[in-house]
Amino acid sequence: MSVSTRFTHAITRRPAASITRGLRAVDTGTPDLSLMQAHHDAYVAALRETGATVIELAPLDAYPDGVFVEDTALCLPQGAVIMRPGAPSRLGEAAEMAPHLRALYAQVVQITGSDSFIEGGDILVTEKEILVGRSARTNAAGIAELSGLVALWGHRLREVHTPPGVLHFKTDCSLLDADTILSTQRLSALGCFDGYRVIPVPEGEEAAANTIRFNDLILMPAGFPKTRDAIARAGFALREIGNSECAKLDGGMSCLSLRFTPS
Ligand code: GLY
Repeated sequence: MSVSTRFTHAITRRPAASITRGLRAVDTGTPDLSLMQAHHDAYVAALRETGATVIELAPLDAYPDGVFVEDTALCLPQGAVIMRPGAPSRLGEAAEMAPHLRALYAQVVQITGSDSFIEGGDILVTEKEILVGRSARTNAAGIAELSGLVALWGHRLREVHTPPGVLHFKTDCSLLDADTILSTQRLSALGCFDGYRVIPVPEGEEAAANTIRFNDLILMPAGFPKTRDAIARAGFALREIGNSECAKLDGGMSCLSLRFTPS
């Protein structure tokens, strides 16, 4: 059974009214909460369509970026690791997620070092390894601590680099199947995907690189026809989901869920 594409569960969190204060690299406008909620509903419906159980958590007004639950944890078949987000305003989101994972997993551990920072958006799990991109949110201490924890569960971690100016490693790539990665050319040019088949994101559509493979479906942001056609030509079933409001906060498909099969 694939650990990187087949899942029985997902956790999402409904966006809060405070989303208007969410972090962003460049201000391209205030996110519209009701449109974001409509996109979120379509996202959750697509996850459920694959047969998975989706747990929708209540909005957290104290955490404007709380809808981006992926950054709070790494979920593996053996257990979950609670992250230590590198954005100070997001640190408390991890503690909010912990009890929900403890209710589902027998083993939940956490990144604890005061100098360790790591966000789930920088972590790509494939069938053979866990790739972690060092970024402005994820540092060497956080990666080293995670490496030690997942080694106890038999996983090999490889440190890579998130391109400068890119929020997270998975902002620029996603796993489509055990051997295939969709990637921007600026990321794959760094050589981190040697040994994988890479489908390049067409130039000008870099924002389409963040998709998710969830059971039999690829969920991708709407509005990127060249990337959509490249994924379809490669034989994948896909669903386009509106992402205009999350994109204003540098968020995408992977950011909106934790995807896992609890032990
Ligand atoms: N707005 C998502 C983040 O910066 O973490």
